[in-house]
Amino acid sequence: MTEYQVITGAEPLSRSGAIKLHGPEGFAGMRRAGRAAAEVLDALVPHVRPGVTTQEIDDIVHREMLARGGVPATLGYRGFTGSCCTSINHVVCHGIPGERVLKDGDIVNIDVTIFLDGWHGDTSRMFLVGDVPVKAKRLVDVTYECMMLGIAAAKPGHHLGDIGAAIQAYAERHRYGIVRDFCGHGLGRVFHDAPEVVHAGRPGTGPELRPGMFFTIEPMINIGKPAVKVLEDGWTAVTRDRTLSAQFEHSVGITEDGCEVFTKSPAGYDKPPYS
Ligand code: MF3
Ligand code: CO
Ligand code: CO
Repeated sequence: MTEYQVITGAEPLSRSGAIKLHGPEGFAGMRRAGRAAAEVLDALVPHVRPGVTTQEIDDIVHREMLARGGVPATLGYRGFTGSCCTSINHVVCHGIPGERVLKDGDIVNIDVTIFLDGWHGDTSRMFLVGDVPVKAKRLVDVTYECMMLGIAAAKPGHHLGDIGAAIQAYAERHRYGIVRDFCGHGLGRVFHDAPEVVHAGRPGTGPELRPGMFFTIEPMINIGKPAVKVLEDGWTAVTRDRTLSAQFEHSVGITEDGCEVFTKSPAGYDKPPYS
């Protein structure tokens, strides 16, 4: 049996294992945090070009978050050293910003999580660096569509498994591999909370979705096999077969008749190309 916990605003900050059901105060907080996170990604668009280092991107993310009154939730999180994750080509997720220079033809996921006025806005997008091969662009398109199909399945009365099933059906139709080692997650006042949102599954399985649930949908899709390995740095996850990987992420809240996407791009830069 799934446990739910109705949030009134008076309870201590906890990661209890129960799925939290938030009220209007939570929606207001997530709307602000989600919008700020999306604006930070929007601000990167002119900078993600051949020749820029991932550290320079990280510096901009840090600055743009502080300018909005927030802080990067990833900085110092379990020892992570970045204000964002930068995952290039065969890097699946959790790439650490550093001296790596972006080059023509790269695809890169930039994942930002802002902590603003007590709430987390977590979102990522793919960026195309210069002229990108059609094979890579197709992966990026399908991965975006996977996330959007997952979002379309996120409504009351459906189950968590319906989200994974929608994503899986579309990815497998394109013969891509769906990463199983990482998943979406509940979030709110807590960065990573219950439930786990897996990106493959069977319809009708898992907890029932109820109004007030907040979670991310963040499928990682590989051209090749789903298997990943984590490098010596303890963070960088790469495809074992070295094929390209893509990811998009939105933070959503279940409403009475569907879901609200907290991290939509105010500039309309939800899906590349952005110009
Ligand atoms: N933002 C990532 C997520 O979607 C989490 C990154 S944790 C980090 O859940 F430490 F790697 F930054
Ligand atoms: Co996330
Ligand atoms: Co994220």
